[in-house]
Amino acid sequence: MKNFNINKIIRPHLLSLKTYDAVNPPDLLSKKSGIPENDLIKLNGNENPYGASPKAIAALKNLPMHLYPDPDQIKIRNAISKYTGLPIDNIVAGAGADEIIDLIFRIFISPGDSILDCSPTFGMYSFCAKIAGADVKFAERDSKYDLDINEIEKNINKKTKLIFITSPNNPTGNLVSYEHIKYLLKKEILVVVDEAYFEFSKSSVQNLVLDHPNLIVLRTMSKWAGLAGLRIGYGLMHSSATKYLMEIKPPYNINVAAEAALLASFEDVSLLQKNVDMIIENRDWMNIELNKINNLTAYPSFGNYILCEFTKNYSKTVYGELEENGIFVRKFNTERLKNSFRISIGTEVQNKKVLQIIQKAMNHE
Ligand SMILES: Cc1ncc(COP(=O)(O)O)c(C=O)c1O
Repeated sequence: MKNFNINKIIRPHLLSLKTYDAVNPPDLLSKKSGIPENDLIKLNGNENPYGASPKAIAALKNLPMHLYPDPDQIKIRNAISKYTGLPIDNIVAGAGADEIIDLIFRIFISPGDSILDCSPTFGMYSFCAKIAGADVKFAERDSKYDLDINEIEKNINKKTKLIFITSPNNPTGNLVSYEHIKYLLKKEILVVVDEAYFEFSKSSVQNLVLDHPNLIVLRTMSKWAGLAGLRIGYGLMHSSATKYLMEIKPPYNINVAAEAALLASFEDVSLLQKNVDMIIENRDWMNIELNKINNLTAYPSFGNYILCEFTKNYSKTVYGELEENGIFVRKFNTERLKNSFRISIGTEVQNKKVLQIIQKAMNHE
């Protein structure tokens, strides 16, 4: 039918949905900026500047691409079990932590349900909520970007099904206290603790999943293991939740390349941990140096990134200066973060270049 109008059959609330503000790939950044791809410094996606483990790269040869991967993810879940110390009944792998977030919505959230977002935070939760037709309540964080329990309490109602707690929080970098999470777990709602940056913070509530059926902990191989392009993450949860996620996920959600790279990465943890340690060292150095610059606050971070907040309009000038030099950082379009941007930690050389450009731009102001 030539005149078929697709807009007539789409779920009506999706007609006006604003898409997720994803980061552009290097070739597009290069095209937009006119700077050759090899000269770009991409610090807008919290990716790992040291890349994947050589063992993971080698594991991508001679894969059985003609066969479907294991729907039960047995090897993957066994490897994650060895790494986390949790039984495989408490583990589900996804095509990135993003897929686990999407599954949580598909399984638990009906149109009209309410979810709590502790803003400013990772944009995927509210994006998925809107697709699900859920109502998103924003419990704004306090002036230091810590959780505001009063705000959370105020926004919980009979329709609230779940709350997302990101620790360390993206983009602000701070941790959520164990006590706050234990407090929230007493409520009759699902608590999703997103620990995408766990390896940089070393702080986790994973030990609570065995006796808290209302807790799901999210992790990813994208950041510490440098596998963002292969899309693999996982959730740790009570076995009663594992059952539903395993039943409802797309059967072959983890492709053979992601599986092979994950298994090889877990064979190379000490090398990957060294890279993480370098990132942590560089992050802490950057934080000190950035805070020496007037009109700039660099927030303490437990992730592989730093939130920089500028007074007046400096953020726009500095962002522009970085972009002109082929350096891409993450800016935000919300009122609260309009004078801030987030810098992912790069290699030592990259960080020094970023710092130099920011110092120069701020001195010229
Ligand atoms: C807090 C947080 N959760 C989840 C993700 C998504 O991770 P993945 O690449 O595994 O989908 C990100 C990615 O930036 C993140 O910052």
